[in-house]
Amino acid sequence: MGIQMKRLLVLAASLVLVACAQESSEGGPQARATPADLASAMANADSKAGERMYLLCQSCHTLDEGGLNKIGPNLHGFYDSPAAQADGFFYSAALSDAGITWDDETLDHWITNPSTAVPGTTMIFAGISDQQQRADLIAYLRGATGEAP
Ligand code: HEC
Repeated sequence: MGIQMKRLLVLAASLVLVACAQESSEGGPQARATPADLASAMANADSKAGERMYLLCQSCHTLDEGGLNKIGPNLHGFYDSPAAQADGFFYSAALSDAGITWDDETLDHWITNPSTAVPGTTMIFAGISDQQQRADLIAYLRGATGEAP
């Protein structure tokens, strides 16, 4: 085996170890982020990258003022407001009664895994496990729904 190959194997093995260590200390890849993780990801957020992440959402949502409700509600003006306010959208009782106001933290938890954040929600979405990708998307959503980015 060449020296390059051996190096690669050692690298791969240590990456696996790092991944396992993170999983056990944080309780798995979908565990809720700490506020510090979120704050530093938001400080580095790239809303252009977030616009690409939004491709995961656009089949069910619109963002512009007066946009249609699709499978999910129009999201214009949702940020900094209580959940479940879009006109004419039929929300689950779970989300209507959750007492959530949308900010970076509640949104981060939601898109990590909606059904963990709000058990019984009708938003069927597997979740985004990468903290930076979530922050990028949050930055994009804030700007694109009328909130200062
Ligand atoms: C398969 C359709 C679907 C996809 C994909 C989807 N959503 Fe949703 N979304 C919904 C539904 C349905 C609801 C309403 C949930 C309820 O009432 O429990 C919702 C609700 C929401 C809400 C709460 C809105 C409010 O008025 O309180 C936000 C925020 C949201 N989605 C963001 C996203 C983001 C960001 C993505 C992409 C990462 C996404 N959604 C992907 C269907 C979807």
